[in-house]
Amino acid sequence: MRIISVINYKGGTGKTSTVVHLAHGLALLGQKVLVVDLDPQGSVGYYLGLSPQNTVYNLLIDNTPYTQCIVHARPNLDVICANERLYPAELAMGQFRQKEKVLAERLGTVSGYDFIILDCAPSMNLLNQNALFFAREVILPVSMEYLSLVGVKQLLNNIKIMNRIFRRDVVVTKVVPTFFDKRQAKSKHVLESLTRVFPGLVSSPIHANVALSEAPGQRQTVFEYKPNAKSAEDYIKLSREVLDHDQA
Ligand SMILES: Nc1ncnc2c1ncn2[C@@H]1O[C@H](COP(=O)(O)OP(=O)(O)OP(=O)(O)O)[C@@H](O)[C@H]1O
Ligand SMILES: [Mg+2]
Repeated sequence: MRIISVINYKGGTGKTSTVVHLAHGLALLGQKVLVVDLDPQGSVGYYLGLSPQNTVYNLLIDNTPYTQCIVHARPNLDVICANERLYPAELAMGQFRQKEKVLAERLGTVSGYDFIILDCAPSMNLLNQNALFFAREVILPVSMEYLSLVGVKQLLNNIKIMNRIFRRDVVVTKVVPTFFDKRQAKSKHVLESLTRVFPGLVSSPIHANVALSEAPGQRQTVFEYKPNAKSAEDYIKLSREVLDHDQA
């Protein structure tokens, strides 16, 4: 089972869109996938049209068994949703012993999935530390803006620090260029910089595509809303690249 945090401290870089489409893409390719939303914005459940009874709040704070928090979203795709109740959860978790390990403890016995994919909020908070403690891999969506590169360096530093403190070996397996527009010189420059910083890790890009921004309004992924859209093609390609990633 591969456990992947999709994270970037910068907001609006396409994290949630990447989580939803990578998860659905992998599910369409026959993989069993569980998504865990760790962002109080709760966008994953909104995207997929879910109305959960229990959320990740109940899992983390009330110690509700994960089986009672999982909702079935699509064939091969299950989700543990989040909502705004997760904001105060941070405070409550701050009092726990081994507060960085709560998520790993609660989900430690999950089985039957090929992938667990975590959607992270754009900040370096306790929930994200929990995500980095539980995950073994990081996927980093980076929008084609010059300022994105600054956030990437901060995140890499934090992963190094977490690895040292907790004796972990979390690795960045993919850097995903998002909002790519080949007509813009900026897109090309940022992509070149990423390829220099992450040789061999940069995935094929996700193009800026209006269908992708419309799909959540229909509570659908782009594979359902406009399967012929460029972004549908891009995200299936990314799903294949992640699936093929050599784990050795
Ligand atoms: N490739 C794309 N083309 C066009 N619109 C996109 C693309 N990727 C994401 N969007 C849109 O941009 C907005 C931000 O995307 P998303 O929510 O995935 O980012 P995020 O990194 O999860 O944001 P946050 O930091 O707030 O969690 C959304 O409205 C989404 O539909
Ligand atoms: Mg998000």
